[in-house]
Amino acid sequence: MSERVEVMLTEKEVDERIQAIGKQISEDYAGKQVHLVCVLKGGSFFMCELAKRITVPVSMDFMSVSSYGGGTSSSGVIRIVKDLDEPLAGKNVIVVEDIVDSGRTLSYLLKMLGDRGPASLALCTLLDKPDRRVVDVKVDYTGFSIPDEFVVGYGLDYDQRYRNLPYIGVVRFD
Ligand code: IMP
Ligand code: MG
Repeated sequence: MSERVEVMLTEKEVDERIQAIGKQISEDYAGKQVHLVCVLKGGSFFMCELAKRITVPVSMDFMSVSSYGGGTSSSGVIRIVKDLDEPLAGKNVIVVEDIVDSGRTLSYLLKMLGDRGPASLALCTLLDKPDRRVVDVKVDYTGFSIPDEFVVGYGLDYDQRYRNLPYIGVVRFD
């Protein structure tokens, strides 16, 4: 069995969309500072690109939660692998994710972060697979809504590979 990656969203499409979201966030948070919370590892590529497009003051922190094993389906098990370094109290927090799939990870995470007393809490995801939703999650900024396919690239992995692809692709097995 061989494995190949088919392009779903080109590097240019992704870059343009991130530029537009950065502009939107800069407008929505005019006069404020935003605190970006990256969900590792997948959200890291998106957050770095997004942060560069935001024109209001930005601070950043990183956390890691695990919800997936090595395969392509959700285990439903979520655990904090690395917590944030800084408190969230009084900050305008935007959680930056690579993808919202079942919504399990984000619904857990948003509840937990909300309990830490941020001034505001928003969710920004590069990709959304609405057909796969099991738990309801309010997404404030979405890069692209995509069909129910397992995607890689731009931070997203298949068994820890392909995160470095500068585009979004679908893994095909022939
Ligand atoms: P959820 O809890 O089901 O919403 O899972 C979200 C997490 O699952 C994401 O942050 C990804 O790490 C992973 N994930 C979901 N769908 C995909 C995909 O198509 N490709 C790669 N990782 C995915
Ligand atoms: Mg993720």
